[in-house]
Amino acid sequence: MEPTAPILFFDSGVGGLSVLGPARQLLPNAPIVYAADSAGFPYGKRTEAELAIRVPALLGRLVERFRPRLAVIACNTASTIALDHARAALDIPVVGTVPAIKPAAELSRSRVIGVLGTEATVRQPYVDDLAERFASDCIVIRHGSPELVELAEAKLAGEPVAIQAVHDAVAPMVLQPDGERMDVMVLACTHFPLLADEIAAAFPAIAQVDGGPGIARRIAYLTQGQDWPGEPYAGIAVFTGGPPTELAPALARFGLTDIQSL
Ligand code: DGL
Repeated sequence: MEPTAPILFFDSGVGGLSVLGPARQLLPNAPIVYAADSAGFPYGKRTEAELAIRVPALLGRLVERFRPRLAVIACNTASTIALDHARAALDIPVVGTVPAIKPAAELSRSRVIGVLGTEATVRQPYVDDLAERFASDCIVIRHGSPELVELAEAKLAGEPVAIQAVHDAVAPMVLQPDGERMDVMVLACTHFPLLADEIAAAFPAIAQVDGGPGIARRIAYLTQGQDWPGEPYAGIAVFTGGPPTELAPALARFGLTDIQSL
């Protein structure tokens, strides 16, 4: 394995940065390619059939161009729908992002947890399965919020995000039956940890759990013993919809200074 072989992170937009952040802490010298399917954004509004074709096809092009050692689908929507298709299509390890229902159930005292994702993620049988396996004694309330995805994009583009707007996007979850007893929410969309402070300000009594740190540990485990460059490497951000200049400062905070188009 060449030390310069990168790790590829993939999302529809900036959400995967919430997975890249913890991964960089564990592997600070890892060369990174961060790919955003901005031309296909938002995934939460797409159909299962579309994503099952689009995601593996894009990953195939990215793998051919950048020759990564490992790919991370840093998107719950794409993972819950297309992870198996992507694994079948690629000849490198593919790490997925699944809603952190297990740790949320372990943490909950009230036994009411929320799953906050995209509309596409919260309707997946995969989520039923996780709830059944890891939270069978919990009430699991789901809510899909396209508004919160847009607010996360806006925040990273440097726009001010009002706590009230975040509150209004999450409130329909808490207003569902038994919602007043919810003590843990799963941030089941990688965009949402980017708004963790705003969500905490709007709902201070509800703990948040997301998959980012667990995925970072999984990446570190799968690359154990592999060689890395001796110092941090300039990361590449690649966009299917043309390079977005307004995101450059946020991308630079994650070490992504070379912005390209796919
Ligand atoms: N970040 C994505 C996720 O984790 C999807 C957001 C979107 O494109 O709707 O589900």
